[in-house]
Amino acid sequence: MRSHIDFGYMAIYEYGHLIPAAVAAALLLLCRAKRWPRILTAISGLLLAWSLAAFLIVQFGVDMNGRLALPTQAFQASGKGKVLDMGAGTGRSALMVLESRPETTVVALDSFGQSFAEHFANAGEGGEVLQRGQAKLLANLTAAGVEKRASIQPGDVRRLPFEAATFDAVVSTYAIDHLGRTGAGEALREAARVLKPGGEFLLMVISKDIWLKLVAGPLMFHSGTPSAASWTKAMETAGFQMVEQGTRPATLYFLARKS
Ligand SMILES: C[S@@+](CC[C@H](N)C(=O)[O-])C[C@H]1O[C@@H](n2cnc3c(N)ncnc32)[C@H](O)[C@@H]1O
Repeated sequence: MRSHIDFGYMAIYEYGHLIPAAVAAALLLLCRAKRWPRILTAISGLLLAWSLAAFLIVQFGVDMNGRLALPTQAFQASGKGKVLDMGAGTGRSALMVLESRPETTVVALDSFGQSFAEHFANAGEGGEVLQRGQAKLLANLTAAGVEKRASIQPGDVRRLPFEAATFDAVVSTYAIDHLGRTGAGEALREAARVLKPGGEFLLMVISKDIWLKLVAGPLMFHSGTPSAASWTKAMETAGFQMVEQGTRPATLYFLARKS
């Protein structure tokens, strides 16, 4: 019997907004019981509304422990090819490709280091993360029954351990936007280098929407969120031609082709 898929994003990301919600609800009750000034009631009410809205957005908009859907059917429409997943984490992006494109194979690359430990529960510390991270990713690939079409590769997306023109396609979801401007530029150039001419690159990053930033707050925005225009420019500079771009809840996506 297969075990179930568990992407393992930390509970603090998924449920952290319930902490200010509980504080605000307690304050509201106290304001009523103790007849504190109305301004305190108003502030507590606003805090409660913000934290509940943020909780709902993270649950139903971001849904980080849920399955990822391909944002565009144009990606690897042939259904075949060797695909690199840059920053695979615990397998959401690799599964997105393997399940929707049944004749592909995927190399799931991740650094399995500090950034992995900051996102995923029970990742361990130091050198442990490398081993536990790979085991977690393999467990999810196996639970989905796609492990025979996947391989796991530790590595840094800024210095990929592959020859030029190795892959038919590259995918990266919510990983390159953790690297800052310089690191993201390096990763995009590496994506172009390892792609075959004409190969496709599907990039998904957290959206820059100001409302999302305001509502979801610091739990979601521990890294920078450049605009769609900045991503487009950075991808073109790295050697890509934009094919399609759009939005999904909390997400910007870009489908590009190596020039
Ligand atoms: C938010 S997770 C995204 C994981 C997965 N793609 C998803 O959508 O669930 C970001 C991942 O990028 C990885 N990462 C961050 N910097 C990296 C780097 N320089 N090289 C390789 N992987 C990196 C982290 O280890 C982490 O697993």
